[in-house]
Amino acid sequence: MTETRNAALDSTTPMEAPHTAGGNSVDRFYKPSDEIVEQANVTAYMRSKGFQTYEELYNWSIANLQEFWTDQARELSWFEPWQKVLDDSQAPFYKWFVGAKTNIVYNAIDRHVNTWRRNKLALIWEGEDGSQRTFSYHTLNREVSRIANVLKSMGVRKGDIVTIYLPRIPELPLTMLACAKIGAAHSVVYGGFSVEALADRIDDAGSKVLITADGGYMRGKIIELKKIADEAMARTPTLQTCIVVKHTGHEVTMENTRDLWLHDLLSLPIASPVCPTEPVDAEDTLFILYTSGTTGRPKGVVHTHGGYMVGTYTTLKFVFDLKEEDRWWCAADPGWITGHSYIVYSPLVAGATSFMYEGAPNYPYPDRWWSLIARHAITVLYTAPTAIRGLMRFGEAWPNRHDLSSLRLLGTVGEPINPEAWRWYHRVIGGERCPIMDTWWQTETGHFMITPTPITPLKPGSATRAFLGIDVDVVHEDGSPCAANEDGLLVVKQPWPGMMRTILNDPERYVTTYWDKEPAGMYTVGDSARKDDDGYIWIIGRLDDVIKVSGYRLGTAEVESALVSHPAVAEAAAIGLPHEVKGNAIHAFVILREGFAGSPHLEDELKAHVGHEMGPIARPEKIDFVASLPKTRSGKIMRRVLKAQALGQDVGDISTLEA
Ligand code: PRX
Repeated sequence: MTETRNAALDSTTPMEAPHTAGGNSVDRFYKPSDEIVEQANVTAYMRSKGFQTYEELYNWSIANLQEFWTDQARELSWFEPWQKVLDDSQAPFYKWFVGAKTNIVYNAIDRHVNTWRRNKLALIWEGEDGSQRTFSYHTLNREVSRIANVLKSMGVRKGDIVTIYLPRIPELPLTMLACAKIGAAHSVVYGGFSVEALADRIDDAGSKVLITADGGYMRGKIIELKKIADEAMARTPTLQTCIVVKHTGHEVTMENTRDLWLHDLLSLPIASPVCPTEPVDAEDTLFILYTSGTTGRPKGVVHTHGGYMVGTYTTLKFVFDLKEEDRWWCAADPGWITGHSYIVYSPLVAGATSFMYEGAPNYPYPDRWWSLIARHAITVLYTAPTAIRGLMRFGEAWPNRHDLSSLRLLGTVGEPINPEAWRWYHRVIGGERCPIMDTWWQTETGHFMITPTPITPLKPGSATRAFLGIDVDVVHEDGSPCAANEDGLLVVKQPWPGMMRTILNDPERYVTTYWDKEPAGMYTVGDSARKDDDGYIWIIGRLDDVIKVSGYRLGTAEVESALVSHPAVAEAAAIGLPHEVKGNAIHAFVILREGFAGSPHLEDELKAHVGHEMGPIARPEKIDFVASLPKTRSGKIMRRVLKAQALGQDVGDISTLEA
């Protein structure tokens, strides 16, 4: 990969240029080598459509949205074809591949088992303790079928939502796939979440079955998942059965009629390795994934089999350019959308070999990840900026001890990557030869929306441009496009196949949150952004009360609700403040109840309380005890004012502030 420079703008660094108000576009492009361009999947597609440039292909894909997505859908297997590619008659409740019958699991497993890929590795897993487990497509098929038969025997059917709360172990993808295979939906709750978060999600989904484990490992310590699940189950009325995976082997309490070990169930005759994959409607629910919004109640984002399958498969194929011999590592947790889309579903649909690691990046030493890449000959690595920044702190000597020459492509996701981290990733990890795919998307979008492909000239810190068939823009509140370098709202102007279909139990909230806001009729993503002179998009940040901590999405309201559930707390407000490694860290302000006094001890106790209720990622970095909070006359806490005060900035217009 070579770097080219525009001499006229030589004095500006790429890091500064896009942030210069009214300034010119960035001066430096990182261009892919001819070899990369020549072999890229997207180049082959571009030529097959008779186009010379990506720009031409993109313009065609937007003008011929349905043809573009149909081309992609035809590469997959359908039990019955669709009658209509897109139904917009009940917008914004769009439907894709209407009338088609399929199952994402048929595409992820069954269709490979009938080919030479049967003995290809589908999944390679390494535990934090160094143990390894591998699954060929054939063994994956058997294991998923056995779990699917167990679930069926318990009466799990289409229409049910199974909650899964597991550490990063193979049983996480196995149980997700088993649910989908029989037409049931899954709701995975991230293993780093805790009691309240888990109980709320089980309740909202109305799950009767929970799948968890005795525990998981993180930095050599056991996270006691079953214990957390026990507390959560005591708060939820619907739950009848809890299936427990034995992973750490430490002692746990098993309640007689409710809790069952998975290995016991798998030893029963019902757990046959043969289970037909249920044909489902393309629009049937595949999963619910809860994500944070502006209110305390998390949103159950609904994704379906057909469109999600086409969208995730297409983006992986063109952006990460997967080839038959690749070894793909998406280092996210399967409990988040990144893991759902790019560890579990799309790599399997593409027939790829996916790698998964259980533990912390720096355990037992800061070179654990680099050693994994060398030992497993990883070819494509996809991770979050926070992980890069965290590992960067330990210095270059750690990655330099390992042969990272197997890598050919890199990726990032979850938050804007600062150009310094981008360059380190590019130079030290990618050996200056691997393009970095900075992918912008959301739980709601299902798959990449703004992203380079391997043939795109790159600018560190920009997710570049919209993906094929994705119509995004940066606009004013009235919907008119912003000028170059002007900040505005990021919107999507046309539907896409992997889009969320609704919010579980709350279609109204789906409409008001994403479609009814100004500008009406477009999907408002909740981010602000700007386009530079080259049309490259720079994400500025969230416009709502969502905080990205280490790339994880948390709602201020969820943290506040955990704080006020402590007996000492009368009121609380949480904001995100910049943090060198985490991107943002939580800073909370608390008004205490009568009879309680602020102290370092109480601060620690409240931090631990949030950790216990929500999970360690939500633990505030700092808590200030205050006598009052800035509020609007209608009583809404003005977090904007708290943030400006904490950063020593001008607090702006506070005319709506309570007197
Ligand atoms: O603010 C954007 C940020 O993450 C939000 C979506 O969070 P979540 O639903 O948890 O999904 C994260 C993984 C897909 C977005 O609204 N975000 C995501 N990717 C990027 C990003 N911000 C800047 N650059 C990115 N590449």
